[in-house]
Amino acid sequence: MSENNPYERLRAAIEAKTARVGVIGLGYVGLPLAVTAAKRGMPVTGFDISPDKIERLDAGKSYVEAVDSSDLVSLSDSGSVSWTADFSELANCRVIVICVPTPLTQYREPDLSYIEQTAEMIAKHVVPGTLVVLESTTYPGTTVDVLKPILAKSGLEPGREIFLGFSPEREDPGNATYRTATIPKIVAGDGEEAGRLITAFYENVVDKVVPVPTTQTAEAVKITENVFRAVNIALVNELKVIFDAMGIDVWDVIDGAATKPFGFMPFYPGPGLGGHCIPIDPFYLTWRAREFGLSTRFIELAGEINTNMPNYVVTRLREVLDSEAGIGLSRARVLIVGIAYKKNVSDMRESPSMRLMELLQQRGATVDFLDPYVPEVPRLRDYPEFAGKRSVDPTELAEKGYDAVLIATDHDAIDYAALVELGIPVIDTRNVIVRRGLPETNVTKA
Ligand SMILES: NC(=O)c1ccc[n+]([C@@H]2O[C@H](COP(=O)([O-])OP(=O)(O)OC[C@H]3O[C@@H](n4cnc5c(N)ncnc54)[C@H](O)[C@@H]3O)[C@@H](O)[C@H]2O)c1
Repeated sequence: MSENNPYERLRAAIEAKTARVGVIGLGYVGLPLAVTAAKRGMPVTGFDISPDKIERLDAGKSYVEAVDSSDLVSLSDSGSVSWTADFSELANCRVIVICVPTPLTQYREPDLSYIEQTAEMIAKHVVPGTLVVLESTTYPGTTVDVLKPILAKSGLEPGREIFLGFSPEREDPGNATYRTATIPKIVAGDGEEAGRLITAFYENVVDKVVPVPTTQTAEAVKITENVFRAVNIALVNELKVIFDAMGIDVWDVIDGAATKPFGFMPFYPGPGLGGHCIPIDPFYLTWRAREFGLSTRFIELAGEINTNMPNYVVTRLREVLDSEAGIGLSRARVLIVGIAYKKNVSDMRESPSMRLMELLQQRGATVDFLDPYVPEVPRLRDYPEFAGKRSVDPTELAEKGYDAVLIATDHDAIDYAALVELGIPVIDTRNVIVRRGLPETNVTKA
């Protein structure tokens, strides 16, 4: 086939690792991807609209736990990677990967505006012989129904001059075992040639690539993974409430059930859902299902149960304060431990700790927090009132006169023995006190 055939040319460039990779959106997903692709020998340009992020990356300073600053420095010194907010440089990229946010609107509907804006930008600069891949989590149909028509505005024909695909991202911030390169990657192209290109590209970047038949399938795989987690977490949260009323410890139950070598997979309860994915993505499917006249009852029910968890935890705290300390919430000083949404990371998105803080303050309690990963609460869309609030100094806990400790996130770096030694009620939503083998005298699980 001729060298002028955009598909052949692109395939050869991908296989030779000379195709420049443009990663758009350098957050928790895009930055590790850009660094992994560069480490595996592909030239990479990272794009972001945030000048602050570009400045930090240029200075070799990582803001994502999964990426080492030393890698940023060595990769940019060797010329393997560069960072920019100038989207005209997309014209030099033969593979473009979109990793921008996909939140919900205030009406809990998909907000695809980031994907749409990015697609418009790509359409302005894309040249023949380019593969465009969407990684952002979204509902089945987005790649073909939303991305493709916008890219076609470039005047280039999808499937002949430019190629499209979807590959859901499976980052798990804080996971010490699996990283970008070792997490199997689902891929699908819009058409056979796009399928071959996207497979060849990710084979350069990650250890295992799993092609699925269509982009809609790949989109549905990602949503299914997140629905699965949301529903199972809701199930154990509901069981927690039921078993607690019966005087049974749900953690002991799960540990027992998990010894069954088949047919059971442990999920653990907590103070509510957090993060960018599980509280949000299932509702992309809910919205899409409505177009087909269908309802997603499992998703709705799971959402309801999980959303109610902070209320349950606060109720348990109120009961404990009442019975053990003889004071009401309105007069209590409460220390929340862990405000990031999961252990050993600083990510605050959708963190249930913020809802706990809000509920406690609404009931008149005075609330402080301790989190080694979050020295100061960033500005959050739903909780602007807490911006700038600072983590307490762990050496000053005893003198603060707290009435109760509420463990919301079980970071490894917390001194739990010191918390127990305060001798005040401890509400443990993560079972960390028992797991650390510490005395349970003042501990209530919730
Ligand atoms: N964080 C995770 O663990 C995770 C896991 C699975 C899926 N996802 C999905 O991956 C996608 C990205 O999530 P994330 O966690 O990396 O988000 P993030 O907020 O950490 O990063 C997104 C980045 O995109 C940039 N950005 C926004 N609009 C842009 C634009 N028009 N052009 C260029 N850059 C733009 C932002 O400045 C930010 O740096 C989402 O769809 C999310 O659902 C995330």
